[in-house]
Amino acid sequence: MGESRPLSRSEALQLGPGWRHACHALLYAPCPGRLFGVVPLGHAVLMQMRFDGRLGFPGGFVDPRTGSLEDGLNRELQEELGPGAAPLCLAEGDYLGSCRVEAPQRLVTHFYTRRLSLEQFRALEEGATRAQEHGLEVMGLVRVPLYTLRDGVGGLPTFLSNAFAGGAREQLLESLGILGLVPEAQLSEAVAASPK
Ligand code: APR
Ligand code: MG
Ligand code: MG
Repeated sequence: MGESRPLSRSEALQLGPGWRHACHALLYAPCPGRLFGVVPLGHAVLMQMRFDGRLGFPGGFVDPRTGSLEDGLNRELQEELGPGAAPLCLAEGDYLGSCRVEAPQRLVTHFYTRRLSLEQFRALEEGATRAQEHGLEVMGLVRVPLYTLRDGVGGLPTFLSNAFAGGAREQLLESLGILGLVPEAQLSEAVAASPK
């Protein structure tokens, strides 16, 4: 994927028909548990293993000429996460920002975040195998390890060395910082420690 540049929602919606649009969402919930009874989990953050072997966020291509960005996003979330996604009904208030990418195709990505209760989050996970795209576009859901283990590499640094779809790695890092799910200093350390 080529260089990506931020742009406003209205600039994005004014782009011509030569541009495709995609909407993805980071869904998360506070999670009080501790790994091995010691390492605080902090939050559960949802990503998925995709059909192409890369990690990404649920969502996909939308057509802003036939409905709102959020209509398209909610349809994709239902296809990829199952009927449990229907009550979430993401809205403009969940919108975080947009980026444009020129190559390999002209694409505008729109990103959303929504805080759920842990019960809602678990209900989504439990219903996900009944999603229309389960086993097709979506090979399974994963939670992102937000901690760094004592060896300095296990946890988030190693997770970040996976292959990610589009701008998903950047979207993950940016939103973990903005939402305060991982302190900025710990994020920078995780990026630096991520095995190449
Ligand atoms: N997560 C996933 N994909 C992202 C992300 C992200 N955070 N950010 C940008 N993308 C890019 C992907 O690289 C992809 O090119 O957005 C584009 C569309 O997203 P998908 O989720 O792959 O689209 P979807 O509509 O769900 O369809 C899946 O089916 O029609 C085919 O080839 C088409 O890739 C598409 C696939
Ligand atoms: Mg899809
Ligand atoms: Mg998709």
